[in-house]
Amino acid sequence: MARVITIDPVTRIEGHAKITIQLDDEGMVEDARFHVTQYRGFEKLCEGRPFSEMPSLMARTCGICPVSHLIASAKACDALLAVRVPRTGQLLRKLLNYGQIIQSHALSFFHLSSPDLLLGMDAPPEKRHLFALVESHPTIARDGIALRKFGQQVIERLAGKRIHPAWCVPGGVSEPLDAERRDAILAEIPKAMAIATRTLEWYKKTFRNFSEEIATFANFPSLFMGLVDEDGNLEFTDGKVRVVDSAGNVIADQLDIADYQEFIGEAVEPYSYLKSPYYKPMGYPDGMYRVGPLARLNIADRCNTPRADEEWAEFRELDRRAVLSSFHYHYARLIEIIACLERMEKILRDPDILDPHVRAHAEPNEFEGVGVSEAPRGMLLHHYRIDRNGLVTWANLIIATGHNNLAMNRGVLQAAKHFIRGEKIEEGMLNRVEAVIRCYDPCLSCSTHAIGQMPLEIELVARDGSVLDRVRRD
Ligand code: MG
Ligand code: NI
Repeated sequence: MARVITIDPVTRIEGHAKITIQLDDEGMVEDARFHVTQYRGFEKLCEGRPFSEMPSLMARTCGICPVSHLIASAKACDALLAVRVPRTGQLLRKLLNYGQIIQSHALSFFHLSSPDLLLGMDAPPEKRHLFALVESHPTIARDGIALRKFGQQVIERLAGKRIHPAWCVPGGVSEPLDAERRDAILAEIPKAMAIATRTLEWYKKTFRNFSEEIATFANFPSLFMGLVDEDGNLEFTDGKVRVVDSAGNVIADQLDIADYQEFIGEAVEPYSYLKSPYYKPMGYPDGMYRVGPLARLNIADRCNTPRADEEWAEFRELDRRAVLSSFHYHYARLIEIIACLERMEKILRDPDILDPHVRAHAEPNEFEGVGVSEAPRGMLLHHYRIDRNGLVTWANLIIATGHNNLAMNRGVLQAAKHFIRGEKIEEGMLNRVEAVIRCYDPCLSCSTHAIGQMPLEIELVARDGSVLDRVRRD
């Protein structure tokens, strides 16, 4: 008789989701699905709101990544105004984004994934959290907490409030930076860089112990999508879209996000509220692509800062073409932290950074605007239409976790096929299936537009629909 396993809730990810594993008559894994099970319809809630309120309203769609929404939304509003943001305003938005990427990557790597890396995938679940590491691995645990705090303080120093800052506005930012806050951030960069450097050194000695996971954690050909600047360098905040295939060939470059509907399709699957975007020219589901740290390091020609470029060159040696295993999202995150720190320092030393002209003012000049930025988890797109009174009539958001939906599903299936034996859910197997999802660091809070952290479950199901085993974790 065919069977199904469900993992619900998947732990140590942001939000609520469920994994279902279908067994065939011989007890072998036949199919596996990653479901996003809640939905609040934020796109509908925008309708009728003044466009100028969108950045701060959109920042409230997610308690995990408000800064990313703030930036993408402000950029969509820039397009409605049809203005050019003053250079200093652009630089300040970049700084804010680097702060967000560093704090979010630190949370993902240290708080959510380092217990697996330090203690092993089979360690008892009560030990697999950061606070258990304070005892067993005090340096790494303290480093993780300090690095996340550094990123949060950058956000706070720039935007005032740690959660839901409304400093990023249509046309730029609301207030310039002063010398005191600039110097305070600059003074802390060396310590943050030291943490990032020693963590990466440790990680490079460790990750090869996970060869079985590297081979089976969503390790398959796909496209990769993200932003690059006009010279093909790694880009987080501005730039245009590049698409690279699994052989590392650039198949589309410098695409304008305003035309995204020509190259991104959004498929709907009955098992999830989260849509499955795909690269339109290749159709569904062949146009599956990945976004986020791994994708960004695969699509860029270089990072364009010295320390990050050294690490990037070594990273790219993992594969002659594109780096395909999603296990390497962890590695890519650590390199990106270094890249963000280097860029942050460079911008803070820019002579224009204290310039008071940080915002362009205008009335709306367009009825439609699209904004995009690289959130920690990947490309985040906001698309608004407004009426003559500046009220939003329609909105579409494509979030990073959505872009990765197809690849996460296929990755869960690949890992389940490899690790799941029999009809009982073993702890180490369960943790590995969840760990595939954690590689992508999905923001399910965002995917479901539900505030706060929720649990996830794994269910093992028979072909006749009967549930053989179920694990729920909170
Ligand atoms: Mg949408
Ligand atoms: Ni989010």
